[in-house]
Amino acid sequence: MKGIILAGGSGTRLSPSTDSINKHLLAVYDKPMIYYPLSVLMLAGIKEIMIISTPEDQPRFTTLLGDGSALGISLHYKVQSNPDGIPEALTIAEDFIGKEHIALILGDNIFFGQGFTMLLRNAMKHHRHATIFGCRVKDPRRFGVVEFNQQQKAISIEEKPLQPKSDFAVTGLYIYDHRAVQLAKNLQPSKRGELEITDLNRLYLQQGRLDVQLLGRGFAWMDAGTHDALFEAAEFVKITQQRQGFKIACLEEIAYYLGYISRDVLINKGKEMHKNDYGAYLLDIAHRKHTNPYWDEMVTHSILGLVK
Ligand code: TTP
Repeated sequence: MKGIILAGGSGTRLSPSTDSINKHLLAVYDKPMIYYPLSVLMLAGIKEIMIISTPEDQPRFTTLLGDGSALGISLHYKVQSNPDGIPEALTIAEDFIGKEHIALILGDNIFFGQGFTMLLRNAMKHHRHATIFGCRVKDPRRFGVVEFNQQQKAISIEEKPLQPKSDFAVTGLYIYDHRAVQLAKNLQPSKRGELEITDLNRLYLQQGRLDVQLLGRGFAWMDAGTHDALFEAAEFVKITQQRQGFKIACLEEIAYYLGYISRDVLINKGKEMHKNDYGAYLLDIAHRKHTNPYWDEMVTHSILGLVK
């Protein structure tokens, strides 16, 4: 399985903050926004990832994350010239995807919750053609909305409906087989002039090939696309981190616990950044014993044979 992070778009709702910089490089409390979706793909065990951004911003992402080798992963970059819609990511990444399955995540989505790694890896293990993740929200009219029958089977999916048929929004994480590329190529722009990911998901639904995995009430799912949402996401990260003493989406920590980078690499990175809290945290992690936050999940994974 390969991964794509879609980090283009216009970010108009966050203007003027986004007038000179890409939304996904803005900080969500103590780290750039893109760290959060990247951490999701890493936790899912994906090591080959393409970041799609705008022509102006691509060099900045490269400066931030390089080729991924510092994290033991492989990062590739492509640009989307115009924000023509989320499914375009699949056609832009056609050669990268090849015949593989693909996890596509929106660059402004933040996921957090106990057991998320397990849920992700299970979803990937049982993935057939298309898997999307649903989460109950207060105002479903702002999202793609999925309706279920009595047997909890998805029966309809609508983009920003005025009268939503359920409270379950479709989150910005999608797993597809490689057929999605051809399907995306045949989509027509919607009334608002964009290719819609909901139209792609509906095609899979009509073919009986869409699985919807629900995130329970213990999960936090946020997109940081407005000033209020960005502020709230930052507040959530700050409070959760302070309470638990663990950082959310610390990429070096995840790479270390997944065995992608050595303790020496972690310590060197920590020393490089020793003047700030992030560096101090890396040094702290390197010196902690038996406190791997992913430990329980990873033991379970190896028992279930999920970790390759
Ligand atoms: P949106 O929030 O729909 O759009 P946006 O980021 O351009 O912001 P605004 O509405 O304020 O103008 O996008 C959701 C995510 O998908 C976001 O991370 C940006 C990304 N995206 C692209 O990279 N390319 C696109 O063509 C679209 C529509 C979105």
